Amino acid sequence: MSASESGNHPPLAGKHVVLGVTGGIAAYKAVELCRRLIDAGAYVAPVLTEGAQRFIGAATFAALASEPAQTRLFDGHHPIPHTRLGQRTDLVLVAPATARLLSDLATGRSDDLLMATLLATEAPVMVAPAMHTEMWRHPAVVDNLALLRRRGVHVVDPEAGRLAGGDVGEGRLAAPVHIAARVTELLLGAAGGPTAGPLAGRRVLVSAGGTQEAIDPVRYLANRSTGKQGHALAEEAHRRGAEVTLVTTSTIESSPGIERHQVTSAAQMADAVFAAAAATDLVIMAAAVADFTPATVATSKLKKTDGTPSIELVPTVDILAELGRRRTPHQILVGFAAETNDVEANAKAKLERKGVDLLVANDVGAEGVGFAHDTNEVLILSRSGARVRVPLTDKVAVAGRVLDAAAAAFSHPPDPAGTSA
Ligand code: CTP
Repeated sequence: MSASESGNHPPLAGKHVVLGVTGGIAAYKAVELCRRLIDAGAYVAPVLTEGAQRFIGAATFAALASEPAQTRLFDGHHPIPHTRLGQRTDLVLVAPATARLLSDLATGRSDDLLMATLLATEAPVMVAPAMHTEMWRHPAVVDNLALLRRRGVHVVDPEAGRLAGGDVGEGRLAAPVHIAARVTELLLGAAGGPTAGPLAGRRVLVSAGGTQEAIDPVRYLANRSTGKQGHALAEEAHRRGAEVTLVTTSTIESSPGIERHQVTSAAQMADAVFAAAAATDLVIMAAAVADFTPATVATSKLKKTDGTPSIELVPTVDILAELGRRRTPHQILVGFAAETNDVEANAKAKLERKGVDLLVANDVGAEGVGFAHDTNEVLILSRSGARVRVPLTDKVAVAGRVLDAAAAAFSHPPDPAGTSA
């Protein structure tokens, strides 16, 4: 029975979704997805690519969707179907999305009705990729997805499981129920602001970027962090409905809805983080904070003529360890560990030493991992003993997995009065 038949107000009533289906073995699952969206009250206009029709027929959607499935750019009743579809919709959703669709969307290549619709729309776009594990991990696919995410395309990551031909691995289309939930979250979140989404009502503090420790007015000690992973975490938490505070050294832009504090040194970062931390439910220390800082900062530029300087370093405050000591009831703490060897053993020791709930470890010496890359590969260790390995993927996807793990660690529902922290 649909939501409307049951007499409840269907959550997606009045929402218009173009459902693009591309050619993959998972195309049949688009039928269940269509049914779920219709049940939720959405108006669904299916668009099938030529490839999709090798797996599923337009007629299959006839009894289900709000209008007949369209397949061609030129033979329909409407002279410019792509602008009609693109302009009046609230969302263009592509599920399953093949590697080719991701590539066409990244490059703006339009040679069928679905691609023309995707280029002609100003509505949000969501893709649910499905492909073989090897394809999913191919650098071309990883780069295309990273580019699409940067442009604001919403990605429902595939799951691990059985694939075509009996193979098992990452790349299976996310479950239709899960994709439909993301659609609801996005469409209602867009209307309802930050109160919607799985982190609605949660206050999240993220630190990002590498600190700079002044030696003299022109020189400083720094590290290779760019802030990409921290910013991806802040953006993803914001998208999921959290109230986000970002303390950053980076110049990367952030969404207007995020409260941003710009800092430079470890001491400034410590001040900003401590000021905000007490009122937050979740603190994620993704910043690469200097462990040492010059004992004194020269007031004028050190000159060669004065000889080779010897710079005395003193330890900085370990912000995360201090947060562990000051932790408020129910607050979740997440640390990062940049390691170059014995990643898991060092990460476990750090989890204990710093008193955190989750530790996200990355091997910064490995190819495509850590500092300055758009991609990352991490191991998420939790105090409860859970262990999640996230294979090489873009930093937004890593952010999603870290937030999934953090959300699972919450033992209390959100506190609307903000008194729990
Ligand atoms: N961190 C912090 N304050 C510092 C140094 C680190 O809050 N002064 C945080 C980082 O943001 C990160 C975690 O501690 O979340 C681990 O940082 P990392 O540099 O890997 O560990 P360290 O404690 O510095 O230990 P080591 O460098 O000896 O591995």
